[in-house]
Amino acid sequence: MLDHRARMESGRKEKVERILSEFRLKEEDLKKVMYRMQKEMDRGLKLETHEEASVKMLPTYVRSTPEGSEVGDFLSLDLGGTNFRVMLVKVGEGEEGQWKVKTKHQMYSIPEDAMTGTAEMMKHKKLPLGFTFSFPVRHEDIDKGILLNWTKGFKASGAEGNNVVGLLRDAIKRRGDFEMDVVAMVNDTVATMISCYYEDHRCEVGMIVGTGCNACYMEEMQNVELVEGDEGRMCVNTEWGAFGASGELDEFLLEYDRVVDETSLNPGQQLYEKIIGGKYMGEIVRLVLLKLVDENLLFNGEASEKLKTRGTFETRFMSQIESDSDDRKQIYNILTAFELLPSGTDCDIVRMVCESVSTRAAQMCSAGLAGVINRMRESRSQETLKITVGVDGSVYKLHPSFKDRFHATVRQLTPGCDITFIQSEEGSGRGAALISAVACKMACMMGQ
Ligand code: GLC
Repeated sequence: MLDHRARMESGRKEKVERILSEFRLKEEDLKKVMYRMQKEMDRGLKLETHEEASVKMLPTYVRSTPEGSEVGDFLSLDLGGTNFRVMLVKVGEGEEGQWKVKTKHQMYSIPEDAMTGTAEMMKHKKLPLGFTFSFPVRHEDIDKGILLNWTKGFKASGAEGNNVVGLLRDAIKRRGDFEMDVVAMVNDTVATMISCYYEDHRCEVGMIVGTGCNACYMEEMQNVELVEGDEGRMCVNTEWGAFGASGELDEFLLEYDRVVDETSLNPGQQLYEKIIGGKYMGEIVRLVLLKLVDENLLFNGEASEKLKTRGTFETRFMSQIESDSDDRKQIYNILTAFELLPSGTDCDIVRMVCESVSTRAAQMCSAGLAGVINRMRESRSQETLKITVGVDGSVYKLHPSFKDRFHATVRQLTPGCDITFIQSEEGSGRGAALISAVACKMACMMGQ
């Protein structure tokens, strides 16, 4: 009797394995993704093909040769993830002319609270402000650029197509109680790269794997056709999350991906991001679980109302489920909170589903980063490229195995490259303040 039951359970797992095998990617698949990504990157950089390219490769006006920086207090605002943050950063001279950055104050709160919290400190003082705005922006300068389109489920009207810094300045003026001078706007990938650069001058790539997924890197100016000049390098915000909009990922998209896309606020867009980002991964898992219930392979063929509800399975549950020790306690607790009564095998199957989805995400993301790094090595004609990547984001930082799988696959795809990964701490805030310090200096020199 027991034997029979054990056999049934292992047969069930095998059937599940078969369904999940669709998530597995071979090395040749990853190379295909990598080459296609490189091709789109190239098209995004070129004037002639930029408009039609899915990967926009947006110039940031952050250059490789900063002319030194101002010292003093800088305020930074950070909008684009799950939180809105305000931070006061002190930038000062360190030994050997390097900049030392001290975070004097930080807040993670809704804007109203954060604003009143700093009101006293800032009275009668015009503070330079750096703005981390984590969406695709077409820059005209470091402090000027229009929002191309919202991503990650944002949808505020009246912003797309407008100068974001202008909107922020107007909003500050409307309040009337703050004197702030918006001197720089950067993407979160850029802020992350800059903040890590102070620790490690080899850091020329920034990447976020959080709610969304994106990367920036230092490109040779001569290849940045959208901006005049050939000297030095400029940081390019790839906006690689948009990859796939011209069908580049079609052969890899599964039925679950299509549902996630169709029910999103931006169908047909950000398809690469929808495979990797924390905004979407949990939902993919939920759809797979429902499929398994449908096939009578999970929860005795019955789903709860909660599991049937869109958006209920958050990506952070994947981290918790995949870090469960063998006793399945965390998995059990999460599933019972979903009004389910899971057996041991059910718990194992749910874990298998989470692992399939997060492994695919890590591998897909690796193909993108390998594309960037191989491109950098080729354009610098170096035999070995020694490079550091600054990384931030909840998926990268909090998931128990994303990082390791990701690092391993990136290294596998980048022969001849010696890559160091560093995690940024408070990168969005510190990076924006640091680049504002440079922007202030430049403005002074130009007599503004
Ligand atoms: C989305 C945004 C991008 C940002 C990323 C990570 O992809 O479009 O600008 O860097 O999310 O937050």
